[in-house]
Amino acid sequence: MMPMEKLVALCKRRGFLFQSSEIYGGLQGFWDYGPLGVELKRNVKAAWWHDMVGGHNELVTPPGAPSTYEMTGLDCTIIMHPQVWKCSGHYDLFHDHMVDCRETRKRYRFDQVRGRWVEAKDQKIFVTTTVEADEEQADVQRRALKFFKLRPKDAESLKYDGDFTTLDSVQEQEKVLGPDAKELGTLTEPREFNLMFKTTIGALGGEADAAFLRPETAQGIFVNFKNVLDSSRMRLPMGIAQIGKSFRNEITPRNFTFRSREFEQMEIEFFCHPDESHKWYSYWRDRRLQWYKDMGLSSDRLIMREHAASELAHYSVGTADIEYAFPFMAEGEYGELEGVAHRGDFDLRSHMEGKLDPKTKPMEVEKNEHGQPKHRGSGKDLSYRDDLTGEKYIPHVVEPSAGADRATLAFLCQAFNEDEQPDENGKMQTRTVLKFHPRLAPIKAAVFPLVKKDGMPEKAKEIYGMLKEKMSTFYDEKAAVGRRYRRQDEAGTPFCITVDGDSLKEDTVTIRDRDSLKQWRVATKDLVAELTERLS
Ligand code: GAP
Repeated sequence: MMPMEKLVALCKRRGFLFQSSEIYGGLQGFWDYGPLGVELKRNVKAAWWHDMVGGHNELVTPPGAPSTYEMTGLDCTIIMHPQVWKCSGHYDLFHDHMVDCRETRKRYRFDQVRGRWVEAKDQKIFVTTTVEADEEQADVQRRALKFFKLRPKDAESLKYDGDFTTLDSVQEQEKVLGPDAKELGTLTEPREFNLMFKTTIGALGGEADAAFLRPETAQGIFVNFKNVLDSSRMRLPMGIAQIGKSFRNEITPRNFTFRSREFEQMEIEFFCHPDESHKWYSYWRDRRLQWYKDMGLSSDRLIMREHAASELAHYSVGTADIEYAFPFMAEGEYGELEGVAHRGDFDLRSHMEGKLDPKTKPMEVEKNEHGQPKHRGSGKDLSYRDDLTGEKYIPHVVEPSAGADRATLAFLCQAFNEDEQPDENGKMQTRTVLKFHPRLAPIKAAVFPLVKKDGMPEKAKEIYGMLKEKMSTFYDEKAAVGRRYRRQDEAGTPFCITVDGDSLKEDTVTIRDRDSLKQWRVATKDLVAELTERLS
């Protein structure tokens, strides 16, 4: 795969992604989608919504599903009642551990600080780093040489003891060299840091008016579960989907959009009978993995990873991650695209009763300043009564939770290709091409007059107008046609339509396929039908 820098440069140059507030120096962890990026991400979200919600046929049992089921959608607010986050567990449990460096005033995520013991000049120190795994050894060596005041040619005099480990294995903190420090022992003990962004409602701004930007879209679905049931008269099993912004004050946003502070999620909360929940969990894991493959991610870069018990989130009784081998990860490592979690009845029960899963501390014992339970639930009955069997129960939930930005980044990484093609003079040139699935491509077709004369632009503009009604289309008459093809290859446009002399005589055009580079003629009247078929 390509080096990540090439993709990042292409994204900026062609208008897929820009750093937020760039003219003021940028804001870490925030990204803007440019003209091509916004179309790509909209297509990712539209494909997800169509395949999971709009296009779902509730009368037919899909392959691998235990039964038929219904799907519907919601669009909830970003700021919700603060009690939502107390009962969901985010107020108390949604945190990362961080360490500060007293020397440099920098802050790090505890689990991202790794290091090795290095010995020289009769002194043994633990040199830490936060750089990517494939560069960590080089970084540790460079910093150890500097610390011991050795020259690069003396690298062989450094002795290493043990492999890379995180800081929890190190007892002697006074021997630790922080990731950017010059002196030893400058890192603090790890501390908890809540990842929710805090804000204030109204003008008074006291602690009683504090609120949070949602760190996940899921809770909006749980607190509306009864509203959806009552208003739609839907029956279980059924899923409620939502796409929307979420916010997390990540300590170390990194890897382009992979870990951002503002991002979009595409989440489904799937409500079912507790006895059926494990079958639904398996169904959603397989279904979601297949979706990424159908959208073009290669099977050999995708894995499904079942979480170990120690890794499970506070609510989860089982989670599998769908992971992708992003090019910025070290060889053999994968990054999470989506989590599919079996959440049991944790959320509905918490919003009813204000209790947490028995595995974690019970929340209702904490009291506020008036002596009332701090984490009381809504007191509303969020159970479900099956009108056919009369059975009443609290549904179990399976949650496929995807990131729209991570999926978009994975599709960009997968699409990026370079090949050698002859230019107009027959000289071999490197062609950069984004081979998006046609459903995801930001522009579906580009229309070119071969030359800017003899009535060709007029005919091409007419065809452009006809196509634009049906699909995202681009018109270009600038520069040699070969260069125009290459610009569209970089944008990932599946089809280029050229109007030439014969087009005027016979009312035909040439279609050129982005991936095979094959060209063929069709009658102008058949163009929309031909492209529509190929794009689907
Ligand atoms: N409701 C469950 C939930 O939010 P999660 O694993 O924390 O679970 C789900 O998040 C997905 O949201 C992740 O798989 C990832 O795709 C996306 N996501 C989470 N944090 C993100 C971040 N800081 N930047 C970009 N995407 C993120």
